Amino acid sequence: MKNIAIFASGNGSNFEAIAKAVKSGEINANISLLVCDKPEAKVTSRAGRLSVPIFVCDSKDYPNRAAHESRILSALEDAGVEFIVLAGYMRIVGKTLLDTFEGRIINIHPSMLPDFPGLDAIEKAFSADVKQTGVTIHYIDSGVDTGPIVVQEMIDILPEDTLESLEARVHEVEHRLYVKVLKDLL
Ligand code: GAR
Repeated sequence: MKNIAIFASGNGSNFEAIAKAVKSGEINANISLLVCDKPEAKVTSRAGRLSVPIFVCDSKDYPNRAAHESRILSALEDAGVEFIVLAGYMRIVGKTLLDTFEGRIINIHPSMLPDFPGLDAIEKAFSADVKQTGVTIHYIDSGVDTGPIVVQEMIDILPEDTLESLEARVHEVEHRLYVKVLKDLL
């Protein structure tokens, strides 16, 4: 069984969906660590409730990306982490982590990449004149929301959609798709 780390920065609904699927045995893995770069993030209380070890590493405490990632890397090594799952981790992953975990870092993004990379992808699709958006799960490389795609699922933007209703549907798809992909991969 692989030791995985989940990286998250905010709400943590994807983290929770994955952690529950690990607990139920649907995903065959051990979550060795939640890595969070925001001390106040709601994901840390979710991890506490689910008894997942938490490593909070605020980038403000480090002079640059390399120093921040070196500290994270040593925590990952201490915990024996073999695979990294990004679930709403809102930082660019740099060379320090990429070099060590090349081909072993997966990410979820709430759009049909390469459309709408970066922040606020659901809102960007909602405000654009498009009829569909979606969810992409991909391995990462040094770009922003680039790297080999594992799976994509399209979601219709309905005439009656509000941003909130669209966000809710995107998150539902994310939770189902990420659990399925991790179940298959791990
Ligand atoms: C998710 O929609 C995820 O796809 C997105 O952040 C949200 C986190 O939600 N990630 C990105 O935009 C990465 N570029 P969550 O904290 O409730 O899981």
